[in-house]
Amino acid sequence: MSELPVATTSRRTTGTPAVLEARGVSKTFTTRRGAVTAVQTLDFSLDPTSAVGIIGESGSGKSTLSRMLVGFEAPSTGRVYFNGTDVQAMLRTPGGRREFRAAVQYVAQDTSSSFDPRRTLGDAVATPLRLLRGITGTAARERMAEVAAELRLNPDFYERRPAQVSGGQRQRFALARALVVRPRILLCDEVVSALDVSVQGAVLNLVKEYVEEHDIGLAFVSHGLPATAFIADELMIMRHGQVVERGRTGQVVTDPQAAYTRDLLDAYRATGA
Ligand SMILES: Nc1ncnc2c1ncn2[C@@H]1O[C@H](COP(=O)(O)OP(=O)(O)O)[C@@H](O)[C@H]1O
Ligand SMILES: [Mg+2]
Repeated sequence: MSELPVATTSRRTTGTPAVLEARGVSKTFTTRRGAVTAVQTLDFSLDPTSAVGIIGESGSGKSTLSRMLVGFEAPSTGRVYFNGTDVQAMLRTPGGRREFRAAVQYVAQDTSSSFDPRRTLGDAVATPLRLLRGITGTAARERMAEVAAELRLNPDFYERRPAQVSGGQRQRFALARALVVRPRILLCDEVVSALDVSVQGAVLNLVKEYVEEHDIGLAFVSHGLPATAFIADELMIMRHGQVVERGRTGQVVTDPQAAYTRDLLDAYRATGA
């Protein structure tokens, strides 16, 4: 049985107001085969000093919740708020959309569709800087060099196209594209799941260090318990679109309350995954 690595630094300053908050959100999709409720009514909140891990097996509603939190999907019921303002309302005006997108950034699993294959990685990282922050020219080049250094990326790779770098490098460029605008909240949906185990740890360390140093609230979504327990100081365990347990990471892994959480921990202890 291997020991589960648990997040050691706790940044939380009690009373830090939530920047992103979901109240009573649910999501039901209408499909040809009927209605599918991906997320049942739940609450969620995140402030810039915390890292929350959202864990659950495939199909438990993690990505649907994530997409509602970042405004890509409108909730069927309930609302998501950014600093107290309804996100769906913000997204209806260009100014509100810019403010929200600059503050709340999303990185998903590395897929062939996450970058335009015809454009360089530099173009991809420059675009949000220009559109969301109005930064171009020398200032843009300086900020892009800075974020490359922070993420330990070779800045020469900005000249390359997405297919000309490894999956691990491309995932770091996806992080660069999200972090270049200096968001307050970063939502990562399965960002290490497609990577070789050998590079997963490096990417996790990078994300953890970055959000702690820059006071960015992190929502880290994964079906993998060890990665999530390492990076998150709070865990939320989901199953069938519902929250079955949430609490401080150390508490949840040492004294799980839900039978499902105990099963996850037993599976980890049996297999190391
Ligand atoms: N756009 C959609 N249309 C219909 N069903 C969907 C859609 N997106 C997700 N679902 C369904 O919602 C459930 C939860 O999916 P998802 O949020 O992707 O879970 P997870 O990210 O935890 O794997 C699944 O049953 C999935 O098939
Ligand atoms: Mg998913």
